[in-house]
Amino acid sequence: MPQINADRLLSDLRTLRSIGAQGTGVVRPAFSPKDMEARRWLKQRYEEAGLEASIDGVGNVYGRSRRRGKALLSGSHSDTQPTGGWLDGALGVVYALEVVRALAEDEATKAFPVDAVSFQDEESRFLGCLGSRSLTGALTADMEQGVTDSGGVTLEAALRDAGLAGVPRLRLDPARYCGFVEAHIEQGPTLEDTAHKIGVVSGIVGLRGIRFEFRGQQNHAGTTMMKTRRDASAALYELAHRINQEFPKVAAERTVWTMGRVRVEPNATSIVPGYADMDLQFRDQSEAPLKAFEAVVERLVAEMNARGGVKITATPSRAPIAPTQMDPGLRAHLEAAAERHAPGKWQRMPSGAFHDAGIISASIPSAMLFIPSIGGISHDFAEDSRDGDIVLGCQVLADAAAAILAEANAR
Ligand code: GLV
Ligand code: MN
Ligand code: MN
Repeated sequence: MPQINADRLLSDLRTLRSIGAQGTGVVRPAFSPKDMEARRWLKQRYEEAGLEASIDGVGNVYGRSRRRGKALLSGSHSDTQPTGGWLDGALGVVYALEVVRALAEDEATKAFPVDAVSFQDEESRFLGCLGSRSLTGALTADMEQGVTDSGGVTLEAALRDAGLAGVPRLRLDPARYCGFVEAHIEQGPTLEDTAHKIGVVSGIVGLRGIRFEFRGQQNHAGTTMMKTRRDASAALYELAHRINQEFPKVAAERTVWTMGRVRVEPNATSIVPGYADMDLQFRDQSEAPLKAFEAVVERLVAEMNARGGVKITATPSRAPIAPTQMDPGLRAHLEAAAERHAPGKWQRMPSGAFHDAGIISASIPSAMLFIPSIGGISHDFAEDSRDGDIVLGCQVLADAAAAILAEANAR
């Protein structure tokens, strides 16, 4: 059985953390100078591990094994949220690197090909899972057209500034692979609450988004009577409130929704806002509640527009994500490895976060492994996991990878 090197794993994770570190967190949004620095650092680590490494035209870092046979792909993403934690994505990226090295150092597994990857923009600065969508051919020219970040920077400009304009984009060759395995922090409290050390993911949520725009009339906050004003922010607050009242009536047990970004213009105390916009995002393990939410939104917007006053438009996100089930064969290997290293201390669980594995699973069998997050906190500088849990999770992944490759290459 391959043995991971715990010191090497933790040291690489800490080095990656230092690139873009802010306090206990990391700020490394996709295509930023720090993100690209981290990608170049990773490319070098891949090369040292014996992989043929490249950064493709959307920023994916890819390390390709020179060995023959059915290959396993592993990795995650190294971009972060605008105020990100140090392990979201980075954990799975460095695990994959360590698995490559550990398998190469073991007589029984050194001939197996393991490829490693760090996808670009999983965290949606421009378009969630941009890198994995591009790799699998799911990124269309239409989806990219005119995409900007929340500050108005276009994807085209970001690619140019990162030195990626004209660089070829890689395409996944499904025939090369027996599967993709992504490790990740749980980002929720379930494993900690149940005193489990490993989660084997059953399925990943689907996600849809809607952008609302509210157009009223900007005016003086003292002289414009309540009856006559067309206040864009009042319409935003009303719609948000009605969504919070109506969604629970059609939600399933684990359906979640978030209105995490709003803008009011001109955002001044003494001015009735003439314009506002808001992003609504909703997630579930199945399509039915997501469709029901869309119908609710359509009804609420039609009712409010029928009253006149502020005009509301609702535009669905151009990059929805479908709910996905993880591959039963790969899951069985993760479960067996979890049971060997953490007997009775692992569980099957759904993922409420979305992940690149949800995109890759449309092309090759895919599976995911979780380790506990302290306090269930993520997408926050306070995100953390215990060193012992980090080391254990990587050993489980290495063990499972060896078993998956042995099976695939015995055929
Ligand atoms: C991924 O980061 C998510 O928001 O689930
Ligand atoms: Mn992530
Ligand atoms: Mn994330």
